Amino acid sequence: MRDLLRARTSLKEEIEILLNNQVKMEAEASAKYLAMASWCDRNGYRNSAAYFLKQSDEERGHMLKIFNYIMTVGGTAVSPEVPAVKQEFASFRSVFEAALQSEINVTQSINRIVTQTRREEDYATETFMQWFVNEQIEEEDNARRAIELFDVIGEEGTGRYHIDKAVLKLTSEN
Ligand code: FEO
Repeated sequence: MRDLLRARTSLKEEIEILLNNQVKMEAEASAKYLAMASWCDRNGYRNSAAYFLKQSDEERGHMLKIFNYIMTVGGTAVSPEVPAVKQEFASFRSVFEAALQSEINVTQSINRIVTQTRREEDYATETFMQWFVNEQIEEEDNARRAIELFDVIGEEGTGRYHIDKAVLKLTSEN
């Protein structure tokens, strides 16, 4: 069955596997952001909770974009199994640090896919992945700017309250 499917598409199996892994990574990123939203909400950081909910939605959008691409080019898109994600964080700041680390990991994974598409001369997938290369610039920038708020505003006194307020502006400036 798989060989028959394979004969009907130019998508190489190796690329299909990488794309399905990326579907899974985006689904996991979406779940991670949900956990971050919940942590922020229950610790009184309502704007940050809203920010992470929005990020979670975006990650689901990324997942669907790749999922649809695999189907469009005749591959087998696999509904992802999402591993358990971290629900607790040591501090407000560490939530944003975890978010940045997660985005860096996604960027590296996307770069690996682009490298592989070049090796396999899969220019359609390489072109498709360019959207993600660009998107990651913005995603990492947002995450870094959020962390900068902790340094610029400072956490003392009502600092964290003001940081949470400033998070509101992070995505509206784009
Ligand atoms: Fe879809 Fe934020 O990486």
